[in-house]
Amino acid sequence: MVNIPLLLMGCGEVGRQLLHHIVSCRPLHSKQGVMLRVVGVCDSKSMVAAPDVLTSHLDDEFLLKLCKVKSSGSSLQELANFGGCQVFSGQEIARKVMEFAATLRKLSGLTLVDCSASSQTVELLSQAVNLDCCVVLANKKPLTSSLNDYDKLVSQPRRIRHESTVGAGLPVISSINRILSSGDPIFRIIGSLSGTLGYVMSEVEGGRPFSEVVNTAKRLGYTEPDPRDDLSGMDVARKALILARLLGRRINLDSIKVESLYPVEMGPDVMSVDEFLSNGLPLLDKDIQNRIDNASSKGKVLRYVCLIEESRCEVGIQEVAKDSALGRLKGSDNVLEIYSRCYSKQPLVIQGAGAGNDTTAAGVLADILDIQDLFRH
Ligand SMILES: NC(=O)c1ccc[n+]([C@@H]2O[C@H](COP(=O)([O-])OP(=O)(O)OC[C@H]3O[C@@H](n4cnc5c(N)ncnc54)[C@H](OP(=O)(O)O)[C@@H]3O)[C@@H](O)[C@H]2O)c1
Ligand SMILES: *[C@@H]1O[C@H](CO)[C@@H](O)[C@H](O)[C@H]1NC(C)=O
Ligand SMILES: *[C@@H]1O[C@H](CO)[C@@H](O)[C@H](O)[C@H]1NC(C)=O
Repeated sequence: MVNIPLLLMGCGEVGRQLLHHIVSCRPLHSKQGVMLRVVGVCDSKSMVAAPDVLTSHLDDEFLLKLCKVKSSGSSLQELANFGGCQVFSGQEIARKVMEFAATLRKLSGLTLVDCSASSQTVELLSQAVNLDCCVVLANKKPLTSSLNDYDKLVSQPRRIRHESTVGAGLPVISSINRILSSGDPIFRIIGSLSGTLGYVMSEVEGGRPFSEVVNTAKRLGYTEPDPRDDLSGMDVARKALILARLLGRRINLDSIKVESLYPVEMGPDVMSVDEFLSNGLPLLDKDIQNRIDNASSKGKVLRYVCLIEESRCEVGIQEVAKDSALGRLKGSDNVLEIYSRCYSKQPLVIQGAGAGNDTTAAGVLADILDIQDLFRH
């Protein structure tokens, strides 16, 4: 039996879904000869850990209890009363994680799983990499900070996986890595990597006003609580940066050209969400409609894409052919077209649901199983 000790950072929607997956996949994993041992779980304030990470782990009953406690909005601290665990908080967390890494290193190793949405985990992750820990991420932020941080994280390429950072569970990163490792140069990547903006762009194409579509998207729960977080394009820019760095580009987030779908005069420090939705957005309808008509007269449609080609790395609205995979996109699917020497006329196309806690957590779990060989001794 291969034992993979895991320490989970972040138990929000994705982290909790991952714990559910781990528990329900026990029979499958044991058939495969793998045992995932969750030795600790953190949220933004605390960490619960097994009494002795070398010999014990948090059992399934405890993990399910943890999910209940977190989804009811309570703190991990509450689990102290439940027994069978140690609880740490504040500065002590990082110190303990490094202590666990050092302890487990001799026996098996440790995998840190980052399902937080924090930019503050990068320090701990890179320290852990120095101790030969493995790292699996759904969180984009550690990979999109400075090049220095990035280089540290990927210094042992076999020990890092981050499939769910782009397109959730879709095999985007692994496909690109396979193409690159076969010596097939990728010269263009273009894709719609935001479910929200994909939905918005395909709906406005049918003639519905931009403002109405964004309001509907918000009502359906497709957007962040403040839809400007989607419309700014910054989340897509982080994905673009991860892909560009994968292709070997030495760039930072601020060198990516990002088109925001609202002007600064309608920013969060100028107007409230409600004001933006009812008074700001309608002022943008006409411009979008003009751009759609213009594109349409050339047989094209508009998509909000990430585009990486030669020295360009841009995020924003582009005109694309109606009959391309991107042009045919409907609803909230993600789609990515990859052009390389082998895929030069007809691109390799990856399409499917690119968000949701379930597929995202499944991508994280597949990443963990993908590194199991590092834990066979
Ligand atoms: N949901 C999706 O469809 C999707 C798809 C692809 C990628 N992702 C990425 O997956 C990550 C998780 O998403 P989510 O929807 O689960 O977010 P979420 O519900 O907001 O959960 C975030 C979790 O991280 C914890 N956290 C915050 N700062 C932390 C820190 N410094 N150390 C450890 N934990 C910390 C939070 O703690 P508290 O509970 O104390 O607040 C919370 O438990 C994000 O990076 C997101 O971009 C999500
Ligand atoms: C995952 O998302 C689904 C659908 O939005 C929701 O019903 C479920 O509660 C979420 N799971 C977790 C663990 O948050
Ligand atoms: C249509 O688009 C072209 C280039 O994208 C631009 O030069 C032109 O001004 C646009 N025309 C209208 C009517 O918007």
